[in-house]
Amino acid sequence: MSISIGIHDLSFATGEFVLPHTALADYNGTEIGKYHVGIGQQSMSIPAADEDIVTLAATAAAPIIARHGSDRIRTVVFATESSIDQAKSAGVYVHSLLGLPSATRVVELKQACYGATAALQFAIGLVRRDPAQQVLVIASDVSKYELDSPGEATQGAAAVAMLVSLDPALVRIEDPSGLFTADVMDFWRPNYLNTALVDGHESINAYLQAVEGTWKDYTEQGGRALEEFAAFCYHQPFTKMAYKAHTHLLNYNGQDTDKDAIAQAIGLTTAYNRVMGNSYTASVYLALASLLDQADDLTGKPIGFLSYGSGSVAEFFAGTVVAGYRDRLRTEANQEAIARRRPVDYAGYRDLHERSFPTDGGDYATEEQTTGPFRLSGISGHKRIYQAR
Ligand code: CAA
Repeated sequence: MSISIGIHDLSFATGEFVLPHTALADYNGTEIGKYHVGIGQQSMSIPAADEDIVTLAATAAAPIIARHGSDRIRTVVFATESSIDQAKSAGVYVHSLLGLPSATRVVELKQACYGATAALQFAIGLVRRDPAQQVLVIASDVSKYELDSPGEATQGAAAVAMLVSLDPALVRIEDPSGLFTADVMDFWRPNYLNTALVDGHESINAYLQAVEGTWKDYTEQGGRALEEFAAFCYHQPFTKMAYKAHTHLLNYNGQDTDKDAIAQAIGLTTAYNRVMGNSYTASVYLALASLLDQADDLTGKPIGFLSYGSGSVAEFFAGTVVAGYRDRLRTEANQEAIARRRPVDYAGYRDLHERSFPTDGGDYATEEQTTGPFRLSGISGHKRIYQAR
């Protein structure tokens, strides 16, 4: 019998501020139905001036360390699209903020929104090699598009931290995976830009091609039949995309695309992404959190995961929900992380969007805005300075 490895704990964090789509629509004259129904987004998380992927990641991971300690963690894998340094892993700052042992390997992974799934799979490999070890996987992103571009309405920010371990308390990750890579330019960000470039409609097609490609490979590798899955967690750049993806998967399999059946399969996975916006690497695992927090008992049920990262790499895999998982959920804390955000008006959001540090190596302090446990207090000599409260 194969050993059971998977997600032992999951915790997330999001930005200090929230911009409702009504404020964006009032500013740019868009009919609100396009946001609420057309793309399925209600609001977006906006990081404070003293927040970034590191502070979000540390905030997400701290409760996991508090609950399990760090004695068994020998690897931290940090997945992000919105990296803050070309050389140093953002995970090293998190390692320091959380006081993790020096006998740890820390690395950053990149492949657009797919990176955290690679991190999860690599973590499973490490635990399989030495089942006594645990791996801390972190997905943290701030999604930023140009102001007044079509992508602007799909921005967001969040971090998910997951502890990967033997005999997981939440979800056992199964073999096989269905894999798909295609060299496409649907969404990318050259080193000299801090907002993503995107061919919006092409990116939707590229995602749907990846749904087909991963499913085909998953089936050829001997995966489960479509009917076996209780729910599907899709990468959600905007929540309507999950509906498009699942409809496409059903069509590809020659199955009915009955609206109620689709809502049953993915409806509960969209609640968190709908109000936080695109969090790139974190999005598919926020879909999982949303599902586990809201669904009736899922014990023993298989969940399908579709992770898509533009460019593109995608993976379809299955996880089985473990008995007793409900006692380990962080539903209250998750809802609190969303509810605690402070509303920002359009002008305030635009000001935050346009901020960046000068690049002259001088000393620059950030405004104290976040109420979270970690903050980016400034930059000095090209070094980012973080503070734990
Ligand atoms: N009421 C209800 N629905 C409305 C409406 C209204 N008043 N007005 C428009 N709509 C609907 C449209 O019919 C459309 O629905 P369908 O897609 O089902 O036809 C939807 O709202 C969006 O309208 P448009 O296509 O006209 O919107 P747009 O041209 O402004 O662009 C977008 C939408 C392409 C998603 C754009 O927001 C974008 O570029 N986003 C960033 C890229 C992205 O998220 N791509 C997703 C796949 S890539 C990926 O997943 C990786 C990643 O994270 C980036």
